[in-house]
Amino acid sequence: MYLGNNIDGFRNDITKGLRNPQQKSTPSKYLYDTLGSQLFELITEQPEYYPTRTEINILKNNSSELIKNISKDIVLIELGSGSSKKTQYLFHEILRKQEKLYYFPIDISMNFLDSIVTSLETLNKNLVVRGIPDDYINGIKQCNNILFENNIYFDTFSRLIVFFGSSIGNFEPEEARDFLKQIRLNIHDKDFLLVGFDLIKDVDLIEPAYNDKAGFTSKFNLNLLNRINNELRGNFDMRKFHHHAFYNSSKNRVEMHIKSRVDQTISILTIDENFHFDAGETIHTENSYKYDLTKIENLASRSGFAVDKVFSDKNDWFNLVLFRPC
Ligand code: AVI
Repeated sequence: MYLGNNIDGFRNDITKGLRNPQQKSTPSKYLYDTLGSQLFELITEQPEYYPTRTEINILKNNSSELIKNISKDIVLIELGSGSSKKTQYLFHEILRKQEKLYYFPIDISMNFLDSIVTSLETLNKNLVVRGIPDDYINGIKQCNNILFENNIYFDTFSRLIVFFGSSIGNFEPEEARDFLKQIRLNIHDKDFLLVGFDLIKDVDLIEPAYNDKAGFTSKFNLNLLNRINNELRGNFDMRKFHHHAFYNSSKNRVEMHIKSRVDQTISILTIDENFHFDAGETIHTENSYKYDLTKIENLASRSGFAVDKVFSDKNDWFNLVLFRPC
């Protein structure tokens, strides 16, 4: 999910976030530079991080059932496709019922897209892959144009838009609603949206997932300070900060923070400003909201969708939810 290199935007957001007297905070998108994205991939392989393997198992066990819900030929659009690892479970099922599949992976990072397009098309000659390096909503608009230009008419197929990984949980609830509303505005009545949600569960399962023993989540979080040091000429001393992640049960979210070990002042040259930290003060770097079915249904109804089908794992830790427009 690397968001490109807009240094002015980065500097403005960091300035605004560190100036906040109530709670220093930074947008979570800045965790995903090249190193951050690599660290995130490693997090998903840690034994404590259950969401990735649970979602993959749901897909493995339910792809066929899922695809049966869609009667027309499918055009597959993936938001934040990364390595397209999870989507491959759908290709096979879709290609059992139709001859050819148009697959549009949308990702702001070109890193993955180029290699994915070539390797997937070589692997399966019935797959037509067109990578879209853009943000999600503009990416969907681009897919619509490409389909139209190629005389692939909307009444002859259903778009299946997939958004895996419980990335919806990194949006604030109102942002999630607005995002789904935007998707709704750009699709038709016969299209579908498939979203992965991490569910509210025992804090003893959630917190270790964000505090893995190998320390990759800590590195991922603290990498933000490295970015500020390298890109904005800051002087954060990494030894004087530590990773702090906990489940806030009143808000149903994991909060990730960077905590100052001591009373200290840091400076950032390109901002030309000093920032003071009390001992124990934090920078809030990410929220990861957990859902239940009521919240999912609520989100759907407030954004122009209805829940069509819910796929779960044996422990009910994670849901893959098929939405239809209404
Ligand atoms: C990308 N996203 C769904 C991850 C999550 O679980 O919220 C990001 C993450 N942050 C720390 N560990 C994983």
